[in-house]
Amino acid sequence: MSKIKYFSENLKVQNKTIILRLDFNVPLKEKKIQDKSRVLTSLPLIKDLINKKAKIVIVSHLGRPNGEKNSELSLAPIYKFLKEQLETNVFFFMGDINEETKNKFSYLKEGEIILLENVRFFEGENKNDDNFAKKLASLGDIYINDAFSCSHREQASIHKITKYMKESYAGPLVKKEIDAINTIIQNKKKPVTCIIGGSKVSTKINVITNLIKNVDNIIIVGAMANNFLTFKGFIVGKSLVEKGTKEIINKIYTEAKKYNCSIFIPEDCSVSTNFEGSGKTKELNSISKDEIILDIGPKTIKKIKSIIDQSNTILWNGPAGYFENTNFSTGTLAIAKKISESTARKSLISILGGGDTISAIKNSEDKFTFTHLSTAGGAFLEFLEGKDLPGLNVLK
Ligand code: 3PG
Repeated sequence: MSKIKYFSENLKVQNKTIILRLDFNVPLKEKKIQDKSRVLTSLPLIKDLINKKAKIVIVSHLGRPNGEKNSELSLAPIYKFLKEQLETNVFFFMGDINEETKNKFSYLKEGEIILLENVRFFEGENKNDDNFAKKLASLGDIYINDAFSCSHREQASIHKITKYMKESYAGPLVKKEIDAINTIIQNKKKPVTCIIGGSKVSTKINVITNLIKNVDNIIIVGAMANNFLTFKGFIVGKSLVEKGTKEIINKIYTEAKKYNCSIFIPEDCSVSTNFEGSGKTKELNSISKDEIILDIGPKTIKKIKSIIDQSNTILWNGPAGYFENTNFSTGTLAIAKKISESTARKSLISILGGGDTISAIKNSEDKFTFTHLSTAGGAFLEFLEGKDLPGLNVLK
């Protein structure tokens, strides 16, 4: 099997323009960055390239604007933060990406940076469009993908761009993630438990059905669990439920039976009539029409803790509730604490992934210990599944 080409320390980059694909898809509230982890972890490579006198063009997406400009999803707050963090000139480019763009960048000097506005404002990005990829590629000499968390996306700045670059490499963060996840997969000890949260079951169906073959327990939490509760006949009030998931869930249970994997769903919950409210513990059969499930309840927390106690490896992606309101972060933090304590005692191998999961943990005052904390969400799950990620495949 061919190997991924990694950006090497010895590569001469002075006066070369590097197109650096990073993941600055960070949570924002009123244009303020809520969790800077993704930007902070990218800084060492940026600083290294500055020291080596490269010219740097940074490309990132933020949210899912689907080819349309949306000021709420501008990278401007990240630009502001980068300027504070870096002792060099950092410019922000909000214009179109076309044949003229490269000439417009002629002012860029060695060790300076241009951050492009959200690449998903352009239709060609999501469509992995050849023409757009070619224009993007024309902006630099060397391409580095240091966005492991985006490498499962077949999009122009991750995938097609490499077709038009003479040199393309994976960056150090990608290497760190791959090495850590591979080591854990190779050394994982049974029983293996996977905790999956988040909202959309349809986007995680393949991941779940593939994981069923490799893990002993799957615990479903977060808004995704609402679909399972509905499937089981519970009334979930105004909770977020995805349409047409009956078949998907049926398939999950059938596969789980076939591969002897136990599926756990919440046994109770915490509800409110609005997202800003305070929580009320409810049994699953007593949720009112106007209530929304926003966290798991105490019985569920107890159950999850006992499953963690019986596990030797835990994979976790996606918070257990609406952690943005601290009234509903109880479940997520209880799981984090339990995993952390067992990891610190060395009785557990733990690997966590996902922007939201990390945000939830970082926002807490507690310090946690995990074997590996991945900045990636979807990419982390697909990599665990054993998939050849499109963004990494093109770097081989
Ligand atoms: C992530 O947050 O997992 C990455 O930035 C990818 O974002 P996406 O799911 O919108 O492609």
